[in-house]
Amino acid sequence: MDEKSILTGLMGWPVGHSKSPAMHNAAFRAAGVDGRYVLLPVQPHRVGEAVAGLRALGFRGANVTVPHKQAVIPFLDALTPEARAIGAVNTIIVQADGTLVGTNTDAAGFLQDLQELGAPLPELAESSALILGAGGSARAVAYALASGGIPARVLARRPEQAQALVASLTPHLSETDLLSARAWPELADLAAAARLIVNCTPVGMTPHTDASPWPDDLPFRPDQLVYDLVYNPRQTRLMRQAQAAGARAHNGLGMLVRQGARAWELWTGRPAPVAVMWEAVK
Ligand SMILES: NC(=O)c1ccc[n+]([C@@H]2O[C@H](COP(=O)([O-])OP(=O)(O)OC[C@H]3O[C@@H](n4cnc5c(N)ncnc54)[C@H](OP(=O)(O)O)[C@@H]3O)[C@@H](O)[C@H]2O)c1
Repeated sequence: MDEKSILTGLMGWPVGHSKSPAMHNAAFRAAGVDGRYVLLPVQPHRVGEAVAGLRALGFRGANVTVPHKQAVIPFLDALTPEARAIGAVNTIIVQADGTLVGTNTDAAGFLQDLQELGAPLPELAESSALILGAGGSARAVAYALASGGIPARVLARRPEQAQALVASLTPHLSETDLLSARAWPELADLAAAARLIVNCTPVGMTPHTDASPWPDDLPFRPDQLVYDLVYNPRQTRLMRQAQAAGARAHNGLGMLVRQGARAWELWTGRPAPVAVMWEAVK
């Protein structure tokens, strides 16, 4: 490495479990780009210093993960419209003049993965999607769907969380009636009408792999598509329930790769070697 090397990394607390260094460093190697992606464990009370440090230390940018996706915002110079709408930053770009720009590649990464999986987006726009959970990833997914013209119902066990999500995203959408907030007991009533079901809760994640956000006695239809943002394990209980009924089901690994590829492209200005990034996370 020398002073021209592209420095990037992941800010979070903790960050040790992340697949991102393997994915991004594989991309740098495959593309012949002199760059590195390092783990940046940042304690919550050090977020401001860490963001300013990116500029001071000559970083090209960084990804941001739990719990800093909102906390970094006051320390940035500009936000892209998607980061502003979603209210969270997962990627920081340090521009040549030192300006720090925050964006969010989760929404586009999710939508792109849906497309790559052959999801019938025009048909989805004619029906509705069901989003389980109303936390950080649900905000990105709801924004992705609604800004793509796909109506979505956001279901949360705390209804006020879903209501807050809808209220804060709607002013950023060109169509204002695409998102609605629903309460968890409505799941059984809403399930049949949904073509796409997206799990944005951590339910089913390792080590609680026997859990599913979907009740066993609630049927799936074969024309439904289930997208589980959880990717550890690769095959979640929710996916197995859907597949047993003949429905298609996918985990969130593709979203992870696509959001990472978009960040890599923003930092390097080159097309990301997506196939290599896939191999690295597998
Ligand atoms: N594939 C990807 O690229 C990708 C990207 C981002 C996140 N993820 C995964 O997506 C999951 C959610 O992440 P996040 O950042 O959105 O988390 P988050 O901000 O903590 O939100 C989680 C949501 O799930 C709800 N929830 C939690 N346990 C529940 C339960 N037992 N029943 C019903 N609702 C429940 C939470 O409600 P309460 O607030 O009431 O607890 C909240 O609405 C995680 O597994 C994460 O690893 C994947």
